[in-house]
Amino acid sequence: MDDLKSKYLGLIGNAADEAALEDIRLQAVGKKGEVALKMRELGKMTPEERQVMGPALNALKDEINSALTAKKVALEDAALDERLRGEWLDVTLPARHRRQGTIHPISQVSEELSAIFADMGFAVAEGPQIDSDWYSFDALNIPGHHPARAEMDTFYMHRAEGDDRPPHVLRPHTSPVQIRAMEKIGAPIRVIAPGRVYRADYDQTHTPMFHQVEGLAIDKDISMANLKWVLEEFLSAFFGKRVKTRFRASHFPFTEPSAEVDVQCRWENGSVTVGEGDDWLEVLGSGMVHPKVLQNAGIDPQEWQGFAFGIGIDRIAMLKYGIPDLRAFFDADLRWLRHYGFASLDQPNLHGGLNR
Ligand code: DAH
Repeated sequence: MDDLKSKYLGLIGNAADEAALEDIRLQAVGKKGEVALKMRELGKMTPEERQVMGPALNALKDEINSALTAKKVALEDAALDERLRGEWLDVTLPARHRRQGTIHPISQVSEELSAIFADMGFAVAEGPQIDSDWYSFDALNIPGHHPARAEMDTFYMHRAEGDDRPPHVLRPHTSPVQIRAMEKIGAPIRVIAPGRVYRADYDQTHTPMFHQVEGLAIDKDISMANLKWVLEEFLSAFFGKRVKTRFRASHFPFTEPSAEVDVQCRWENGSVTVGEGDDWLEVLGSGMVHPKVLQNAGIDPQEWQGFAFGIGIDRIAMLKYGIPDLRAFFDADLRWLRHYGFASLDQPNLHGGLNR
């Protein structure tokens, strides 16, 4: 009896892990363990022997069980200690530096102008960057032979051999979104549509992909005066000061009359400042929406009229933030992005908002 006890207490003491401990448990006090076998022998004993051996075996079983439990707790504690040692963390170490990205000036300016136009009640509309020639040209009163189609240096999407349908294009301006928005919302409507546009052109002031924001307001009695107010409010809010504008008579197939708008500026040592000086810089095209365009979008020109405009986002971003070369916008040069980019928590920079 005593050798059984010392045998198992020894084994338990030396068990290296819980699996070993479980083996010992089965071998000692399991159903077919050594103690159970001994208990089975009780039946063959004399009552006197049994009276001694019975309690002794029970005591042995209890002792082994409590040794097993104690060892199990000890093993768990040791494992926890081990883990705590391994996962120890020195919170006094200096933090590892992780560089944050920046918001691209185009994204920043898009947010800024969307916020300004939202203040004036314009919602944001969207359209596809690959569009049909109907939405890109015909619906905008630019027929097939019109020189404006050639002037825009449009990228055409290739059609399969034998497919005679007119090709889709990479939209060369955001004006098609006017048509889609009118079809979807109808009149009255007040939307802007910022987005990417594409033209086959590349030099210091042109990239094959650039950005425009289209504006459209249709109602019962919208006039050119409303157009002028909205654009002047926008430009002043955007540049953060009262910006003088000059409306020059112009021509676009989708507006009549049409005007190009210049902002007052000063050139000094090759850099330009908006809102002061005696020079003028063109920033956008605009006009009263042509009746045929309204009709093409399912709006009755006898009942409704309104204005539209198209602004070069890249152009006004360069002017506001003094960025000299358009091409650098799209080079994805990290040094450039760190220099001209915006911190992620910057609010749209509205310089105190609209002057009302
Ligand atoms: N779509 C013209 C362009 O890309 C810009 C433009 C001019 C848009 C006059 C308009 C507008 O909405 O009324 O050059």
